[in-house]
Amino acid sequence: MTAEEFVAALDAENQTLLRALEPDATLTPEIDGPLNVPNLLKVALKNEIEATEIAARWLVVTDDVEVKMAFARQAGDEAKHYRMIADRLGELGVDARALDPLAQGFGPLFKYLDSLPSTVERVAAGQFTREAIAVVKNRQFIEFCDRAGDRTTATLYRDIIEPDERFHHQLGRSLLLRLAAGPEAQEAAGRAAARTLALAEELQGAALRTAGIHHAPGC
Ligand SMILES: [Fe+2]
Ligand SMILES: [Fe+2]
Repeated sequence: MTAEEFVAALDAENQTLLRALEPDATLTPEIDGPLNVPNLLKVALKNEIEATEIAARWLVVTDDVEVKMAFARQAGDEAKHYRMIADRLGELGVDARALDPLAQGFGPLFKYLDSLPSTVERVAAGQFTREAIAVVKNRQFIEFCDRAGDRTTATLYRDIIEPDERFHHQLGRSLLLRLAAGPEAQEAAGRAAARTLALAEELQGAALRTAGIHHAPGC
């Protein structure tokens, strides 16, 4: 199939699987207690620093100027998100400078992305798919903030972070339209996207079982 047909099919498949990430209607969030905005923002810090680092690693190992600059843009945006979230945590009484989100090391999704050997897989997994996941998760987090009465955090996500993540997904789309040419590239890209979604679903399930977290924002 052509790259256009492949990207449209991958998008449709991703959107179907992404519905599985939407929380069960019965899992009404418990706003009092540990599942609160500051604790979810701490999870967000880890996601943002990992997204910054993976984009930065990938930008230095490609000679493709368009890909390099897409990862550079993404790394800068994710670092901006980190700072904005840290500032918001400060307003909520949490000193983010005292936190090291990488103290426990990189997470399984980061390690998987870091293992991907080709540009088409990196773009399919790290931008096109991971950023589509982020858009869904951020929409859920915005609803959570609204319900918790935290309009400032909801506005930060609605006006700045979510549109940036959507743009990262679009960067991935425009690169894939060029890179996903031919059956081999398409097969590798499809596999990497599917594994990324499966990992995200697995991790969300684990977060839900161990910490009751089902509204952590993505990046
Ligand atoms: Fe992003
Ligand atoms: Fe981000």
